[in-house]
Amino acid sequence: MQVILQYISDELRGIYPESEIQAIGYLLLEKLTGFSRTEILLNKNTQISREAANQLDGFLKKLKNYEPVQYVLGSTEFYSLPFKVNQSVLIPRPETEELVEWICLGNDRSKPLKMLDIGTGSGCIAISLKKNFPLAEMDAFDISPEALDVARENAKQNQVNINFREIDIFNPPAFNKKWDLIVSNPPYVPESEKSEIQRNVIDYEPSMALFVPDDDPLRFYRTITNFARKNLKIGGKLYFEIHYQSGKKMLDLLTECGFRQLALKKDISGKDRMISGII
Ligand SMILES: C[S@@+](CC[C@H](N)C(=O)[O-])C[C@H]1O[C@@H](n2cnc3c(N)ncnc32)[C@H](O)[C@@H]1O
Repeated sequence: MQVILQYISDELRGIYPESEIQAIGYLLLEKLTGFSRTEILLNKNTQISREAANQLDGFLKKLKNYEPVQYVLGSTEFYSLPFKVNQSVLIPRPETEELVEWICLGNDRSKPLKMLDIGTGSGCIAISLKKNFPLAEMDAFDISPEALDVARENAKQNQVNINFREIDIFNPPAFNKKWDLIVSNPPYVPESEKSEIQRNVIDYEPSMALFVPDDDPLRFYRTITNFARKNLKIGGKLYFEIHYQSGKKMLDLLTECGFRQLALKKDISGKDRMISGII
């Protein structure tokens, strides 16, 4: 295994930073051998099969083409749970784990809360919340049928029941229920920031999940906030992941729409990243 790790490192040198190469090496070996990282370290001199070696070369070819390692492997981890991912869904980000953590810490897990995740993608938010709020009734919407297929598989793999629906949040039907909590991590990257974004994101992740027009970057937030005002119970909570530069504008938007007890929260890098309010 030590030799293989070195081979991976040599193949990817110059394409990925050294710090990332080591992590990628372990992820590839974990997938190919079924060993944990500790087992890989303990089995330094074990060889991998010819079949695994061929598979490894396929993985390396894709990685050299800047395909994200999560898509190459077809899986990732979010909030300590396994998730299938492909190019129909955004790769779940660590900032979003922080949003889930915030919701877990700020709400009562012993209550049968009605929760809704808008723009569910891989289902990472809805599924990790349902795992932590087992009594909750969880709904999740997305406009993309392909993303919803992945989310359904992820719910099955993680053994949770979620009501997934194909809904365009700009044109929602009427609902005969009200929710206690609505959460969303909608598309929020202005088109003009495309040039600053890494090639593996631009070339492989779904644009529909990421970008918003420069002339109206808050279009999802305005629509979802208005939807939440109508569809939350009195005292219900709205949570958003946000662009790090829109904290002030989001405080204004939520205030204008009648939300109170607003809380703006920074991510681990010290950037404004989450907001919540009560109606
Ligand atoms: C930033 S991704 C978030 C995915 C996932 N919730 C996460 O946190 O990793 C935004 C999601 O919104 C979905 N989306 C885009 N436009 C939408 C619309 N009009 N109505 C509902 N969902 C939409 C995309 O398909 C994508 O899955």
